[in-house]
Amino acid sequence: MNAIWGKKIVLGLSGGIACYKAAELCRLLIKAGAQVQVVMTESAAQFITPVTMQALSNKEVFTSQWDARASNNMAHINLTREADLVLVAPASADFMAKLLHGQADELLSLLCLARPIASCPLVLAPAMNREMWQHPATVRNVAQLSRDGAHVLGVGAGDQACGESGDGRMLEPEEIVQEVARVLTPPTLLGRRVLVSAGPTWEAIDPVRAITNRSSGKMGYALASAAWRAGAQVTLVSGPVALPAPRGVSRILVESAKQMHEAIMAGAQQHDVFIATAAVADWRVKDFSAHKIKKTPGSAAPQLEFIQNPDILASVALGERAQAHALYCVGFAAETQDLARYAHEKRLAKGVPLMVGNWGPATFGLDDNELLLVDEHGSSTLPKASKDELAQQLVAEIAQRLPSFFQL
Ligand code: CTP
Repeated sequence: MNAIWGKKIVLGLSGGIACYKAAELCRLLIKAGAQVQVVMTESAAQFITPVTMQALSNKEVFTSQWDARASNNMAHINLTREADLVLVAPASADFMAKLLHGQADELLSLLCLARPIASCPLVLAPAMNREMWQHPATVRNVAQLSRDGAHVLGVGAGDQACGESGDGRMLEPEEIVQEVARVLTPPTLLGRRVLVSAGPTWEAIDPVRAITNRSSGKMGYALASAAWRAGAQVTLVSGPVALPAPRGVSRILVESAKQMHEAIMAGAQQHDVFIATAAVADWRVKDFSAHKIKKTPGSAAPQLEFIQNPDILASVALGERAQAHALYCVGFAAETQDLARYAHEKRLAKGVPLMVGNWGPATFGLDDNELLLVDEHGSSTLPKASKDELAQQLVAEIAQRLPSFFQL
């Protein structure tokens, strides 16, 4: 279950052209399983109609503190008492300035002030012209709102509706949903630094040909994202995949096993957890041809000779132990037979506390998986589910094991 599922979210719109994105945001929140109550300021209603937002949220929209629909006539109290989160998107410069001073002269600012501050987080997705975003008043207001406990999201850069270009666009709806999920996720990895390897590696034969495997990187990317949502600072070292960098994660792109080995060895010291989901090629071609190998009619196929690649997981686990650096290492065993036996053997051979077994061909490129967790106490299964769901469960399993590991 994702962190948004079943949550009651008040989606507030203040005035700005980015209101058009709030329609899609509302849909995505509902798709993620939230119940969305829309509240709009008078200015927001100049940009998008309450009718649109009502149709998308399937709930009547509130626009005024004088709305007589609530029997007690206190919409600002009623709307937040059951809410799990208030999200203002777009949050205009003017609206944030008002919040900062605790002003409450219309329904949306009133309910932000009246919400139970301890149980109902406030997330603001700013949107404004680049000059307004850079203005010292806005910079000051954003800093103070953050100190007051609001989650003020960043902004996007690019072309703006006014014709200028720069920082100040509202984040895209998908990005805001990720941020909301993060706020709603228990921060079980807060303060931890997590390194993840993902995807296949490419072992070049010549400048145009390579040997690779069927890993899509989906599991590793889902894990990096889940670790970020759980509060970790995440570095993702990725082989060639067709996936965008997950939000909040710092990504290093590599091609070969050798490059992946170098990137991970260089970063291991600065991390507390290493999750090796990458399907690293075990061998590379011994003699890389600087030019494309040509075929001539009737000639024999080239004979390729291979040499073994370094075992990244084993060498990281060994190297960090030798330097007395506590790094909690998690391996992923991809098998086609005897999953439990191989996962147990690989855990011991690579010297890691947790090995996660999965059936390679049954999961490569797909959106779901099934995991077998093997540690010193035995094994347990995470039943078939989406990779996002499994990533969340595995992050929780890892977080649970960290306190005793770091006490060693
Ligand atoms: N691994 C690694 N470096 C390698 C090979 C594997 O870091 N050169 C890591 C993988 O990222 C994974 C774990 O080791 O976490 C197990 O990988 P897997 O391919 O299942 O096993 P191998 O050790 O390669 O053994 P085999 O190919 O014989 O199954």
